[in-house]
Parts: sequence; structure tokens; C-alpha cells
Amino acid sequence: MDEKRLVETFQWLHRHPELAMEEYKTTDYLRKILQENRVRLLDTGIETGLIAVIGTGKAPVIALRADIDALPIAEQTALPYCSETPGVMHACGHDFHAACMLGAALLLKEREETLSGTVKVIFQPAEEVNLGADRMADTGLLDDVQMFLTGHTDPQYPAGVLGIRPGPVMAAADRFSVCIKGKGCHAAHPEAGVDPIPALGAIISAVQTIVSRQVSPLDSAVVSVTRVEAGNTWNVIPETAFLEGTVRVMTDAVRERIRKSLENQIAHTAKCFGCEAVFQYERGPSPVVNQAEVCKRAEISARELGLRVEVNPPSMIAEDFSRYLRIAPGALFRIGTGGGFDNHHPAFTADPAALLPAARFFAALAERELSQLKA
Ligand code: NI
Repeated sequence: MDEKRLVETFQWLHRHPELAMEEYKTTDYLRKILQENRVRLLDTGIETGLIAVIGTGKAPVIALRADIDALPIAEQTALPYCSETPGVMHACGHDFHAACMLGAALLLKEREETLSGTVKVIFQPAEEVNLGADRMADTGLLDDVQMFLTGHTDPQYPAGVLGIRPGPVMAAADRFSVCIKGKGCHAAHPEAGVDPIPALGAIISAVQTIVSRQVSPLDSAVVSVTRVEAGNTWNVIPETAFLEGTVRVMTDAVRERIRKSLENQIAHTAKCFGCEAVFQYERGPSPVVNQAEVCKRAEISARELGLRVEVNPPSMIAEDFSRYLRIAPGALFRIGTGGGFDNHHPAFTADPAALLPAARFFAALAERELSQLKA
């Protein structure tokens, strides 16, 4: 796999971003390149995304995972290969991920006879909406995988740097909502009704204390109220008020504690104001927890390839890669891609100079993991 071709692939993907579960052109494009290189593809039964297979077809089996979807963001970069689809952009570097894992797949294909097992390369749709990993995992085609590996672009490091951190690296992301039921009336006669708005205000204040008073200062957690809605005019006390928000944590124990605290505080606070609260809590992706042993081996592979290794800080953003870690252990590494703008920013860019080193790293680590599992 030569670098020029790899960069062209990345740039094509960047020019043709597609939203979650609509990655048709992306899938066709990747499929064509894989087929041209005689890489076997599995029938996933899913319209977008692919699973490629390289190696003996027998155990041990490890997986490399890329996500391929873009975001509903209007691109604001001056790149000569900027998005050709108005309002849609690869602002999270999933174009980079797809090109990188394609590169790794083709590098592994070149030395297929020497592999001591099987590598499944996952091109996963719909990461941004937390759907794709479930879809891919639910096919059952990954049940034999013993180690899952992935990477994510990271603007805090330049090309040539790899962030490796054992333990929790990405948070769980849950969603909660509350509908506060009172009794509507004329705004001039509050005594005739039950105003849900003071209850809403008190709940917003109360839940701010969960992280500071009920979670250990040594644990990471976020409770954010992100949307409130009540009433529609100035002279009517509304019947109901609504709020929703998100909880981010690194462990299931803290997650459960916060869920219970929210439920309690919301129910009791609403009651104080004579209201009733209907509380809903939806679990999103679980935390991504990197296996310590594979992180050590990754560091060796990275250094052998001349990459600089950093211990990256964990992030309170979620990643549906955690779904695969319910099948087998694994790790998510940070790929330095420079650029100066955060992921999901309209000016986000990923430095193509990071592509080939990252592809080589994943190919090398995949080989290392296969020999490790075989031994
Ligand atoms: Ni992303």
C-alpha cells in the first residue's frame, strides 16, 4: 500500500461524507478497493459498512475497527478536498479512520501467508448515533474475535504521536429526562393551580450537587441539564414542564449511583412543590476500558515504528466501540492528527501525514496480537 494511494483514498472519503446509516457510496468505494485487492468480505446483511477478513480463516481472531459515518455540519476548511455535500462533513475524522484501517488491511493482505490467525477489519456505520457497533456485533460475525483494536483522530497531538492509556479512556453516555406535572391556571391566580416551573428550577439546582456531593472526588462524572421547556406565553401557568440532559461516567458503579440519586432528587423535589415527576433514564454506550496488557504491547509496536508515545488523558465523550468490548477485551488508541480544531468543529482537519504510520501501527499490532494469542 503506497502512501500516495492511501492519502488519495482518505481525500476521496473526505470529499464524499455520508450521514449515519446512509454510507452507501462510502461502502461501495471501500468494497471496490478491497475486492480489487482480493480481500474476502463477509455478508453482514447490513446495507452499509463492511467486514473484511484476512489470514488463515481460523483462530486466533482479532479485529481492527474503523467507523465511516460523517456529521451534519457545514464544512469550514480551506482544504482542496473539502466536502462536496452541503451540510455534511467528516468532522470527526472517520474518513481518516476508514482510510487507516483500509491501509492496515492491505498491508496485512500483502503478508497474509505469514499471519498466524485471522484479522477481521470492521468498517462500521453509524458511530455518531450509537447504532453501528450494535448492528455489527449483533450479526454474530464477530463472536470469535478475541481482541478488538481501534484508533481515533486526536487534534491535541501532531502526526507521529500515538496516545496510549490503559484503563478507562472514554465515558458512558446516558440520557435522562423529566416531565414535571402540575396544574395549569391563570398567571394572576397561582393559588388556583400547581406551578411546575419553580419545581423545574429547584430540580436543576438540586442535580448540580450530585457530582460534588455524592460521587467521590477521585471518580470522573458529569451531570448536565441541556434542555428545558415550559409554557408558551407570559400570562398562563403551564400544566407541565420538561427537562433533559446527560450523565457521563467512567464506571458502572458510579453510573448506578448517579441514576439512583437523580431519580430520588427529582421525585422528592417535585413533590415538595406539589408536582409529580415522570423520570426516564436511557442507557447509552458503556465506558471504553482499555486492557492494560495490549496497551503495553501496543507501545512496543508504536516505538518500533518510530512513533512517539504519549499517555493521553481520558475523555468524557462516548464511543460505541465499547459494545465490542462486551465480546472480548481491546483498546482504543489516540492517533495524533494535528490541525488545531476539535473533533466536531466545522474547521476540523486531520493531517494525512499521520495515515501511513497509523496503518502500519495497526497492521503490526494485529500481527503481534495474533502471535501472542497463538503462543
Ligand atoms: Ni468519532
